[in-house]
Amino acid sequence: MSAAFDSLNRFYASSIGKKILVALTGLMLIGFVFGHMVGNLLIFAGPDAINDYGHLLQTALHGGGVWIARAGLLAAVVIHVVATISLTKANKAARPDAYAQHKAQVSSKASQTMIWSGLTLLAFIVYHLLHFTVRVGNDFGSAAYVYKTDEHGHTVHNVYKMVIDGFSWAPASIFYLIAMALLCSHLSHGFSSLFQTLGISTDKSEPLFKKAGYAFAGLIFAGNAAIVLSIWLFGYGR
Ligand code: HEM
Repeated sequence: MSAAFDSLNRFYASSIGKKILVALTGLMLIGFVFGHMVGNLLIFAGPDAINDYGHLLQTALHGGGVWIARAGLLAAVVIHVVATISLTKANKAARPDAYAQHKAQVSSKASQTMIWSGLTLLAFIVYHLLHFTVRVGNDFGSAAYVYKTDEHGHTVHNVYKMVIDGFSWAPASIFYLIAMALLCSHLSHGFSSLFQTLGISTDKSEPLFKKAGYAFAGLIFAGNAAIVLSIWLFGYGR
């Protein structure tokens, strides 16, 4: 037991161990962001589709499924952020200034801003959870709770109306669009970088992984921004 703990400790203490953890948790978060976007796009299939989907997620494994997913996501985010901050600190401490400047010149804008786009995304996630999960200011839990609806004889959470109302407010829509642009920048670099860390991309295939990273980031931006813009600017669902 203590031998296993010791080797885990040594793995985390090494810089390659931390990089692998950042890559694996990044992969998990990429999977989540893609799945979440596909689920969100159900809004274009109408109220029943997205409300049924929300209800399915909430009731999977007798309500336990959503908590398992939340615990996994929280662990992935914490490990991803803590290991990245520790790697950034170690890199700064180890690099003489001239080398750091040279590296900054040759690395892309997205890679230089990884730590900042990442930390801003964290602030977005907190805002997003307060907005749609805790539903601060959304009348949730009060007698006047408006985001409920009847479907197939059940009372379910009205995700459709909550999202339409949420993006009918310009400041929220603008903040989401800024966060999606940052997410896009973060993903465009993170995607190819993780395959490099895991030793999957080679010198030859690296340009292909880079292109795939840009395509994936563009897809996530386009899918999520389409929801915000069609509600905010084009009045979808109102
Ligand atoms: C326009 C884009 C987005 C829309 C419309 C949207 C919509 C939603 C909704 C409606 C919920 C609450 C579901 C419910 O319980 O009723 C939710 C939860 C959540 N969203 Fe998003 N989301 C968007 C983008 C994102 C992005 C980019 C991320 C991550 C970077 C994200 C991360 C989360 C997380 C972590 C939860 C909490 C899941 C839970 O524990 O219940 N979302 N989102």
